[in-house]
Amino acid sequence: MTSRTHDMVELIRRKRDGGRLDGEEIDWLIGTYAAGRVPDYQMAAFLMAVFLNGLDRAELGRLTAAMVASGDRLHLEGLSRPTVDKHSTGGVGDKVSLVLAPLLASVGACVPQLSGRGLGHTGGTLDKLEAIPGFRSDLSPSEVRSVLERVGCVICAAGPGLAPADRKLYALRDVTATVESVPLIASSIMSKKLAEGTAALVLDVKVGSGAFMRDLDRARQLGETMVAIGTEHGLRMAALLTRMDEPLGRAVGNGVEVEESVATLSGRGPKDLVELVVTLGAEMASLAGLEIAATADPKGELRAALDDGRALSVFREMVRAQTGDPDAPLPTARHRTLVTARAPGFVRAMDARRIGEGAWRLGAGRTKLEDPVSAAAGVVCLRRSGEPVEAGDPLLELRSDEPGRLGPVAEQLEDAVEIGPDPPAPRPLVLEVIRQ
Ligand code: URA
Repeated sequence: MTSRTHDMVELIRRKRDGGRLDGEEIDWLIGTYAAGRVPDYQMAAFLMAVFLNGLDRAELGRLTAAMVASGDRLHLEGLSRPTVDKHSTGGVGDKVSLVLAPLLASVGACVPQLSGRGLGHTGGTLDKLEAIPGFRSDLSPSEVRSVLERVGCVICAAGPGLAPADRKLYALRDVTATVESVPLIASSIMSKKLAEGTAALVLDVKVGSGAFMRDLDRARQLGETMVAIGTEHGLRMAALLTRMDEPLGRAVGNGVEVEESVATLSGRGPKDLVELVVTLGAEMASLAGLEIAATADPKGELRAALDDGRALSVFREMVRAQTGDPDAPLPTARHRTLVTARAPGFVRAMDARRIGEGAWRLGAGRTKLEDPVSAAAGVVCLRRSGEPVEAGDPLLELRSDEPGRLGPVAEQLEDAVEIGPDPPAPRPLVLEVIRQ
């Protein structure tokens, strides 16, 4: 890090007025902030200036590198298989990681999937896996490497040592209305992925009512920005923009999503989830140079690994390696209620955001990172878009440990499922692919 000191007020003023910072100034800013020598009120002003005026490519690359340099890196060199990971910007019912990591490991990749916990209406991969009795997601760097070597995949928390400057900045952005900035989101996500040490990365950038990015243009901008940062730092990268206006699969919640993931790993998955998993998987296989990428039908090869139990067997091994019991029953909710159709017709749309918020209010999600979550609470979509219904047919099953939560959520979800006289036109799940 630089030994020159800088005037923080001058850096804020320059960014406020549309100017740019040089590399050394960015290193100083991030290093000094991470060390606790720039106060939050000055960093908050700087973040707002970035929110309003953006960063150019050089500033963005250097900011990301400085966040990586603020902490440790996982050392994954020397593993016997190529490393490749996937990151999703978060959606409702998004259990893709639980299926994809063991699936790719079953066809020859090494998948270091460092994940997060849920906040607000989108669930977190770790909360889902922790519904499995005994499962541990807080592994040390040497445990991560050992599980990867033995099993071929690991799904665990990014430890506090990885990109600590991002952790501090993200907490500050959360309380200063500066989260929704493409350069700040892109550098935040990419700093963690670069510190993780994977050689290749596929991004699943969700678009729609249940996603962080509601419109396609902003999602494209985010995908392109992350692909550019990763490429500049030597990662093989691709980004898929995928539709998130309906829950993915039928299950939304922690234990229920594990159940649906296991069904998918056993060849019994819902069509949309399987399609997304094999599409992302084929992209990962190509970036990692796996043998299946050179076959005539990589997606077919991945479907076969789901159908014949290879992926399931890796999942069970991973759960055991992380001290979980893959045969233990998952927690079940003590109370349930149904939301039913008011009229006959076809399901035309299911509001992902409202269903995600419903699951969260039933106890599956949290408002603050320290809040506990229920493993058993959630929503199961008993009907999906395009399916016919009669009046009175059950549409959603709500599950909770606390009976008092069911009534208000049922009321809020009364019209979350739209019914009309005709089925909706088919909509593609993958909207665009961005490659480097
Ligand atoms: N997820 C992150 O890790 N960082 C952001 O800025 C937004 C979402």
